[in-house]
Amino acid sequence: MQTQDVIVIGGGVIGCSIAYHLAQKGAAVVVLERDRVGAHASSAAAGMLGAQVEMSFPGPMIELCLRSRAMFPELGRELYKRTGLDIELNTAGLLRVAWDRTEAEQLRDRARWQRELGGRAEWWETRSVHEDEPEVGADITGALFLPDDAQVSAPRLTMAFARAAQALGARFLEGCEVTGFLIDGDQVTGVETVDGTFRAGAVVLATGAWSGVLARRLGINLPVYPVKGESLALRPNQLPHRKTLFAHGCYLVPKADGRIVVGATEKEHDFSPGVELGAIHQLAHEATRLVPSLAEAEVLSYWSSVRPGSGDGLPLMGHLAAVRGLYVASGHFRNGILLSPITGALMAELIAGTAVPELAPFSPDRFLGSAVRR
Ligand code: FAD
Ligand code: GLY
Repeated sequence: MQTQDVIVIGGGVIGCSIAYHLAQKGAAVVVLERDRVGAHASSAAAGMLGAQVEMSFPGPMIELCLRSRAMFPELGRELYKRTGLDIELNTAGLLRVAWDRTEAEQLRDRARWQRELGGRAEWWETRSVHEDEPEVGADITGALFLPDDAQVSAPRLTMAFARAAQALGARFLEGCEVTGFLIDGDQVTGVETVDGTFRAGAVVLATGAWSGVLARRLGINLPVYPVKGESLALRPNQLPHRKTLFAHGCYLVPKADGRIVVGATEKEHDFSPGVELGAIHQLAHEATRLVPSLAEAEVLSYWSSVRPGSGDGLPLMGHLAAVRGLYVASGHFRNGILLSPITGALMAELIAGTAVPELAPFSPDRFLGSAVRR
């Protein structure tokens, strides 16, 4: 039996960021990870910090995304100082390409309301796109330039959070699957694992796409479900574009090591491992439409993982009223890398006992009309 202040279940980017921010506050934290740190979505991700490109309407989500994106430059320096790991923050910006006039008009509209929120967004006609990125295909209809949408190495970010947390005293146990919860009255007091029992005053469910599965062990119906994504990595002779390119059908993310990451499919309620030939075919078709010269690039690798989708598209972050001491940080869907800094910082505040009004729109209790306690 081992006792901590906080048990974090799940060693993805969300669990590792929470552990880092809690350890900074001096909490005794253990992260229990079924497989390896960053084994799943957090290493499969393309690493885009798409606070603007991924948001198609105003609301609390884009505000959270903009705040989180702004944290990266300082966070990158801080994590490098603590761990020597470079998260490879690339600030060249992103071009959201339109294929036709209807899409161009929608993107111009988006630029308008995003500018009203303080985001930078410029419409570029096709000629300007080709002057800046000559390898982009001929049949586009302009693009929205988002100078502040950036990208990082997702596996490095996850590992840097974990190592920085460890340097501050957090413990990480890999190969340690949580199989159940210890409950005393309406209070969670710990967890059962394949490696024995752990006790703590607070338990955080940061188990990505598996959060719904684990919550069911408590009789709680948490609407988090898998959305499988398949991706490819290419090695061109020389990088054909500096900016991240994003179009309906695919995105192309130029990484620091010379690879281009091509992503990604979306397959709901699919936990299956592996990559289908049809997915490779579709991504290859879209990638070469966007940048025709990629037809000559070498295919280096392909992979898949599961995003944590949520019932209403917003993440679930906060405590569960049904079980005292139980917190959830999950359902970050397509934006868990982007949202990892703000999630870690706000969840650590909440667990430390501070009121965090910014988390109100994301409270997991918004769904728990359907929660049933055993
Ligand atoms: P995960 O990384 O899946 O971590 C959850 C962990 O919990 C896993 O390691 C798992 O082993 C562990 N676990 C599960 N059950 C248990 C248990 N019972 N006991 C112990 N441990 C357990 N986001 C962006 O911001 N930008 C992008 O460009 C981007 N691109 C993406 C591309 C693809 C192809 C995919 C699949 C995702 C992408 N995402 C992107 C989304 C992002 O990857 C996720 O939102 C994020 O990684 C979720 O992090 P997580 O820690 O919640 O989940
Ligand atoms: N944010 C990119 C993806 O989830 O594929």
